[in-house]
Amino acid sequence: MDTAFIELDRVEKVFDVRKKTGFLKRERRQVRAVDSISFTVPRGEMVGYIGPNGAGKSTTIKMLTGILTPSGGRLRVAGIDPSRERSRLAHRIGVVFGQRTTLWWDLPLIDSYRLMHRMYRIPDGRYRENLDRLVELLELGELLDVPVRQLSLGQRMRGDIAAALLHDPEVLYLDEPTIGLDVVSKAKVREFLRELNTENGTTVLLTTHDLQDIEQLCSRVMVIDHGRMMYDGPLAGLHEAGESERVLVVDLERELPPIEAPPPARVVKVEGPRQWLAFPASASAAPLVARIAAEYPLVDLSVREPDIEAVIAKMYVERAATA
Ligand SMILES: Nc1ncnc2c1ncn2[C@@H]1O[C@H](COP(=O)(O)OP(=O)(O)O)[C@@H](O)[C@H]1O
Ligand SMILES: [Mg+2]
Repeated sequence: MDTAFIELDRVEKVFDVRKKTGFLKRERRQVRAVDSISFTVPRGEMVGYIGPNGAGKSTTIKMLTGILTPSGGRLRVAGIDPSRERSRLAHRIGVVFGQRTTLWWDLPLIDSYRLMHRMYRIPDGRYRENLDRLVELLELGELLDVPVRQLSLGQRMRGDIAAALLHDPEVLYLDEPTIGLDVVSKAKVREFLRELNTENGTTVLLTTHDLQDIEQLCSRVMVIDHGRMMYDGPLAGLHEAGESERVLVVDLERELPPIEAPPPARVVKVEGPRQWLAFPASASAAPLVARIAAEYPLVDLSVREPDIEAVIAKMYVERAATA
């Protein structure tokens, strides 16, 4: 048997966007949301899929569920082409979108589950068994009779996760499942996912921009940026990749010789009155900025995050600051 449960080979998604640029004027533009992504996930693995906003994470998940059809490349989940056999695949996958609920807003939670019981044609015995277990593990007992609109975000998320698992899917896609959750709710969701993966062997693809999710749950992480795979490997390797540089762009009053910056900061480019200084991504820009402001005729400045390594380094710095 083939062990690659999820398989992507140079998958692309291009969106045609029409933008209004004036009265009766429209400009056509193409957005390459996913640009030749390849990876495989073996059965039973829990993998993190991370990247900045707009990187292409949700688009990838939508292609994996069959909601979107790839513009190019080859994609298989459990041997199925998702966009061609979306409903056959639906019985084998579960999906949770953190920013959108699949539950019926006005109905008590339990009614959504009853509807899913019928929609997915889950055998009665299995439905009851799964529901009991999920209600216990996700602490939903007291919430079953509460209309979804009255649930807190954390409660609603646990309700959504249960809904995605009632039909025993072999793979669970989670798109930002901890977004907006408080610390306690995040911990509950993470603990549940760990248990689901180790005890049921459910394959999990977890999209997040919270590195703590990844650190606590995934040994493997994939990083995408601008639709491209930037890193695929162990989390430990990502820490190293994170030690890169940011760039301070400085506009001076006039053209001057390269700024004498305190090492390791250094000028990497000069163009007229504008100079680019690289400095360690993990360091604060403040002392460098203060020094330049004191010694040079400064007009303007900005800090650039030139690549994904810097973005991730920044994520780590932010995380360290809030830990
Ligand atoms: N339906 C769509 N039509 C046009 N552009 C889209 C559509 N969906 C996503 N995009 C664009 O594709 C890129 C990737 O989006 P998305 O996959 O949502 O990123 P992420 O989930 O990583 O934040 C973004 O530039 C986004 O604006
Ligand atoms: Mg997204």
